[in-house]
Amino acid sequence: MCFSLIEQFSTQFFKYSMMTKFLALIPAAGSGSRMGNELPKQYLPLDNHPMIYHAINTLWHNPLITQIIVVLAPDDTVWFKYDWSHFSKKLIILNCGGVTRAESVLNGLLTAKQQLNLVNSHDWILVHDAARPCLSMLQLENLINGLAEDEVGGLLAIPVADTLKLGNAKHRIMQTQPRENLWQAQTPQMFRYDLLVKALNNAANVNITDDASAIEALGLHPKLVPSDARNLKVTYPHDLALAELILQQRSDL
Ligand code: C5P
Repeated sequence: MCFSLIEQFSTQFFKYSMMTKFLALIPAAGSGSRMGNELPKQYLPLDNHPMIYHAINTLWHNPLITQIIVVLAPDDTVWFKYDWSHFSKKLIILNCGGVTRAESVLNGLLTAKQQLNLVNSHDWILVHDAARPCLSMLQLENLINGLAEDEVGGLLAIPVADTLKLGNAKHRIMQTQPRENLWQAQTPQMFRYDLLVKALNNAANVNITDDASAIEALGLHPKLVPSDARNLKVTYPHDLALAELILQQRSDL
C-alpha cells in the first residue's frame, strides 16, 4: 500500500517535472517606419487600444499560455503610458530589444531564462508579432493543437492565392512564379526554447524576417498550420482600417 502511494506520487512528480509550459513572446521593439508615423507601430490606436493590446488580449485568454513576454526597445517611453494591470498575472516586460526582430526575440529568450529563470529548455515558445492584432482564439488553438506533439514546431500560414510575379527594379515582370505549394508565413511561430535559441544564434549574421527561417537554416522543416487572411500584419496605413473592421466583427473575446 505504502509502496503504491510512493509509486503514484513519484509518477505524478515525474509527469509534472516533465510537463512543458507554453510561453508567448511578442517582439515589440520595432519603429514601424513603413507606417510613416512618429509613434511606433505597436502603439498606434486601433479599436480604442494601442495595437499591441489586441495580440496580448488573445494570448492572455488561452489557458495553456502561462506567460506573455513583451520585448521592448531599451529606450521605449510609450509602454508605461498605458494601464496594463488587467494582464499583469501573465505579463513580463523586458526592455532588451535589438536592432533586428531576430535579435529582439533572442535577447528576450536569453533574458527570460538566464536572468529570470522563467523558462525550461523544452518549453514551447510562441513568438507573435505585435503587428498582428487580429489573431483569433481559434487560430491560436489550431496552432497549439497542431504542434504540441511535433518534433520541430511550426507556424500559422496561408496558401498563396494570387498569381506571383517576379519584377525588376523598373517594375517590369521578369517571370511568373508557380504558386503551387507556396505559403505566406504568419505568426505565432511555435518552437521549443532550446531549438529556437540555437537557431537564432546560428542565424545571427543572416537577414531573416521570421523565426521559421532560422529553424530551416538548421536543415529542419517546420510544419505549416493552415490559418486565414484575417490574421493580417499591419504594415501600411491602410492595413489599420482593415484590422479595425476585423476586430469589430470578431465574437470570440
Ligand atoms: O517591422 P515588422 O513589421 O517586420 O516587425 C515585426 C515585429 O518585430 C513587430 O512586432 C516589431 O515591433 C518587431 N521588431 C522588434 N525589433 C526590431 C524590429 C522589429 O521587436 N528591431
